[in-house]
Amino acid sequence: MKVYFVGAGSGDPELITLKGRRLLDEADLVIYTGSLVNPEILTGVRGDVVNSHGMKLEEIVELMVCGARNGKKVVRLHTGDPSLYSAMYEQMRELDMAGVEYEVVPGVTSAFAAAASIKAELTLGGETVIITRPRGKTLQRDQIRELSRNNATLAIFLGVHKLKEIVETVEMPPDTPVAVVYRASWEDEKVVRGTLSDITAKVEDAGIKRTAIILIGKSLDPDEHKRSYLYG
Ligand SMILES: C[S@@+](CC[C@H](N)C(=O)[O-])C[C@H]1O[C@@H](n2cnc3c(N)ncnc32)[C@H](O)[C@@H]1O
Repeated sequence: MKVYFVGAGSGDPELITLKGRRLLDEADLVIYTGSLVNPEILTGVRGDVVNSHGMKLEEIVELMVCGARNGKKVVRLHTGDPSLYSAMYEQMRELDMAGVEYEVVPGVTSAFAAAASIKAELTLGGETVIITRPRGKTLQRDQIRELSRNNATLAIFLGVHKLKEIVETVEMPPDTPVAVVYRASWEDEKVVRGTLSDITAKVEDAGIKRTAIILIGKSLDPDEHKRSYLYG
């Protein structure tokens, strides 16, 4: 039996793929990544359900390996899309060593759920989107300053608590539009819009300190956009 790494989507239980949903329904064991997975998505799951919050990598891997070796269908459920900031790679490496096969099923990342919430086309203008994060516990030095020079839309994860520092670091005009989307696609989602010059105060007023995506770029201000060549 394989282990399936499945993206749960950003919060709204309908933002999982049909394949992910089917695998969840068929699973004998679901190991999900704590508070960022909407518990509603687990409704109807007939297999055992384990919250991996606070578990060590070795414990999670042991559960997956034992399950797969005992012929169980195991789903490792990650928030958003598992290809972004999920620590999936280290789990896959352990499964390789144990000789257990796995497959990855995508989900809607919170960056794209945030873009949907503000109805943004992230590739407008500079035609480029950069996904990144500020330095933190697991990253000593970030590249936000260098990346901000690319006329791209920045989608910044894991960084709302460092918003002031990010805003001071980016080399973009002060009137560049910014959106901060807290818990995109959840019922208590909050959206704060502004520019590099006023977003920090607005986000502070809104009380947003975690679980948010920061989008920065001209693409967030459609008024500035010229009509696409696509339509002649
Ligand atoms: C460990 S990363 C997981 C990212 C996830 N794999 C994804 O694709 O969305 C956690 C960070 O993702 C972002 N995040 C996750 N869910 C979110 C949501 N519903 N709304 C806004 N940001 C979210 C936040 O920046 C949070 O700090």
